[in-house]
Amino acid sequence: MSSLLQGRNLISINDLSKSELLKVLKFSKKFKEKSFPDILKKYILANCFFEPSTRTRLSFETAMLRCGGKVIGFSDVKSTSIEKKESLSDSIKVISKYADIIAIRHPYEGSALQAAEVSSVPVINAGDGANQHPTQTLIDLFSILETQNTLANLNIAIVGDLKYARAVHSLVVALALFKARFFFISPEMLTLPDEIITIIKKKGIKFSFHKAIEDIISKLDIIYMTRIQEERLSSKEELTIKNNCTLKMHHLQSVKKNFRVLHPLPRVDEIETTIDQTPYAYYFTQAENGIYIRQALLALILKEADL
Ligand code: CP
Repeated sequence: MSSLLQGRNLISINDLSKSELLKVLKFSKKFKEKSFPDILKKYILANCFFEPSTRTRLSFETAMLRCGGKVIGFSDVKSTSIEKKESLSDSIKVISKYADIIAIRHPYEGSALQAAEVSSVPVINAGDGANQHPTQTLIDLFSILETQNTLANLNIAIVGDLKYARAVHSLVVALALFKARFFFISPEMLTLPDEIITIIKKKGIKFSFHKAIEDIISKLDIIYMTRIQEERLSSKEELTIKNNCTLKMHHLQSVKKNFRVLHPLPRVDEIETTIDQTPYAYYFTQAENGIYIRQALLALILKEADL
């Protein structure tokens, strides 16, 4: 397979067509099945994390190291010259001279695009504010495909913080390409943003809003749980949130055999930990899949990878 992505940025999930998404998933499977220890030898990734992360930063790092590449970067803005009032643009201009590719996580929406506009090397958005988290979406699609053997026409509930969880915004847009039927559950203050509703309406996607997990769980193929993004809440929202969004063991009594639970993690209390031992829990494998997705993306973007 020849690369479609060589030299490109990945800022939004919309940067990839349906066929490109499917090719990234296919390519990622090869990394899950086999190791390619030298494929990114000589390449350097700059991991620029201006906001906390465990999975995204470390799986990008593991992905690069397992492919023979090297990693530079930082995980705390306080250790950078941004603290001395350097602009993001100036920082990225310089970092792009030190590395072959940049992964950036930043608390502000649009920051990854801003970085891409001044970078001389490709930029991957590792999460910008409440906006987008496209590599997480690729992981989610990969995990859905692994568990359901298809991405088409699935019944998918998305539960929790639909307003601020960037992984939700990218995922809903991507799953709309595959004619998902959505069931949304969230605290009233944290419902899906109008712009995402407009996108799925335009595509003729069926969706509905519900108050309780037990009302819909028997119909589902996938339930995608998310945490409340407390760091993004206004104080008024904090006061008014009534959270009805915890998956409990007793909910699983009526689920379909192929039903699986996904969560981008970190989890706070959205999934009872006893569920971890059931065959329905897939969130830790989902996190592992982050390595293969990021190996594939780095290989496709950095070189004309052909495995
Ligand atoms: N899923 C995810 O983005 O996790 P981190 O915040 O730990 O990177």
